[in-house]
Amino acid sequence: MKYNTEISRRRTFAIISHPDAGKTTLTEKFLLFGGAIQTAGAVKSNKIKKYATSDFMDIERQRGISVATSVMSFEYKNVLINLLDTPGHKDFAEDTYRTLTAVDSVILVIDSVNGVEEQTRRLMEVCRMRETPVIVFINKMDRDGKNRFDLIEEIEKELKISLHPMTWPINSGKDFKGVYNLHSKNLVLFAANTKASDDDLILVDDISSTILDQKLGENDAKVMREDVELVDGVHGQLLIKDYLSGKVAPVFFGSAINNFGVREMLDTFIQIAPIPQCRETSTREVCPAEEKLSGFVFKIHANLDPRHRDRIAFLRVCSGRFERNKYFHHVRLDKDVRFSNPYTFLARDKDIIEQAFPGDVVGLFDTGNFKIGDTLTEGEDFFFTGIPSFSPEIFKEVTNKDPMRTKQLEKGLLQLTDEGVAQLFTQFSGNKKIIGCVGELQFEVIQYRLLHEYGASVQLNALPFYKACWITSSNMGKIEEFIRFKHANIAEDKDGHLVYLAQSEWFLNTEKNNNPEIEFHFTSEIHKS
Ligand code: G4P
Repeated sequence: MKYNTEISRRRTFAIISHPDAGKTTLTEKFLLFGGAIQTAGAVKSNKIKKYATSDFMDIERQRGISVATSVMSFEYKNVLINLLDTPGHKDFAEDTYRTLTAVDSVILVIDSVNGVEEQTRRLMEVCRMRETPVIVFINKMDRDGKNRFDLIEEIEKELKISLHPMTWPINSGKDFKGVYNLHSKNLVLFAANTKASDDDLILVDDISSTILDQKLGENDAKVMREDVELVDGVHGQLLIKDYLSGKVAPVFFGSAINNFGVREMLDTFIQIAPIPQCRETSTREVCPAEEKLSGFVFKIHANLDPRHRDRIAFLRVCSGRFERNKYFHHVRLDKDVRFSNPYTFLARDKDIIEQAFPGDVVGLFDTGNFKIGDTLTEGEDFFFTGIPSFSPEIFKEVTNKDPMRTKQLEKGLLQLTDEGVAQLFTQFSGNKKIIGCVGELQFEVIQYRLLHEYGASVQLNALPFYKACWITSSNMGKIEEFIRFKHANIAEDKDGHLVYLAQSEWFLNTEKNNNPEIEFHFTSEIHKS
């Protein structure tokens, strides 16, 4: 197959949602359609169970299983789909944010009963920041959810994105009768858990047709006609360019568990979702069709078995062809590396691959050479931008309990933070090591791994900070003055960038007001552009 055809038949995306909205269930239905799994329930093992929060080893064990399903590649109607998994647990939100840097679009699942939830908001913020095209799936229509119009309004308002309904529901809960496809003008009647086929479609070219009254009953048919008229009047035609630029999100209604409304979405997805896109780097824009390979590491998965300290780095191919055993340039280390056992994630198993194309994700065995954001090229010196660290929300001071193991501790902290488990800060002009995470669980992970993998025993004491802001200014004098006054709140991140640790929102706002010449950033990205 021609190189350009390989690129244009790829779609790389992630399904994101607030935990429990139905991400795992929808993923599974997609895989069933793609023939990548044969039975329902196969993806469940990938899910971090909501009740397991107190037992992180169980979570890590489950995460271990999830290596195989970190990327799920399957073919559907001759389109090669790379579905990147994101952890559902909120304490691993940063993993999810980083995975979003490696996709070209997302499907956002919203629970029709709960509407927009906390994680939905945060995830959408990241998508907005990156102008990622979003398709929305409003799930659980078989339950008594919010009014459909209210839901649309809530999502638009809370997520600051315009929606464009592609299907429209007829009732919800026990009265849920199906969806009308506004685009192809057909009605799909709800039947629980059937594999939708073309036979289930009832073509309704003209919505005044009496077939609607027969199928839905007079009352529901009347409501549907009114709804459709209203929706058509407000939304008109979907402009694909507005979707591709992240301004408008097409919306589908359905029920993932019942496999209802899923195929309509998947069919539209393969038609409109972006093929692998050009990406910004520190020197220029890199496009998929370029001959030479480039790619970046967006995730590192560690082996929790202390006898095998190997890790797997996930490389998103951005341009050119990745080939087994060929030398590529590791830009940060300025050295050439090659990989004899790279693997891909087709279907269920990890398969060793010979080559991969833009849009693909390749798993590379790593013995400590990679950190998040690392770039591979064929010699050119650049790195991909837009892979930020986000401000952590919980901070703890690291105290070494065993001075004989100081070196091991330092090494462990560096390696674990390279993997993106947490962020490491060093208090300015002191030696206090501070770890910042988005969730409590990561501290448990770090403490456990430091002990079991590096033999370093630490105590972690909570610090009263609420956010870390990277600070910059065109006036260095102002920064120096700020450091002098706010000594105890200043730290350096691993790359030596200055960070202000704010005790509360009030303190942060006060400092912002008092220091108009200093800029406070919530992501580290500012230092990479
Ligand atoms: P997540 O990955 O986003 O966290 O959600 P997941 O798919 O695991 O779904 C969360 C719960 O919602 C599951 O129930 C799942 O069966 C249910 N669910 C998913 N889609 C639908 C739907 O369309 N309608 C209804 N009524 N429920 C749906 P659970 O009881 O937590 O798990 P399980 O016992 O079913 O595995």
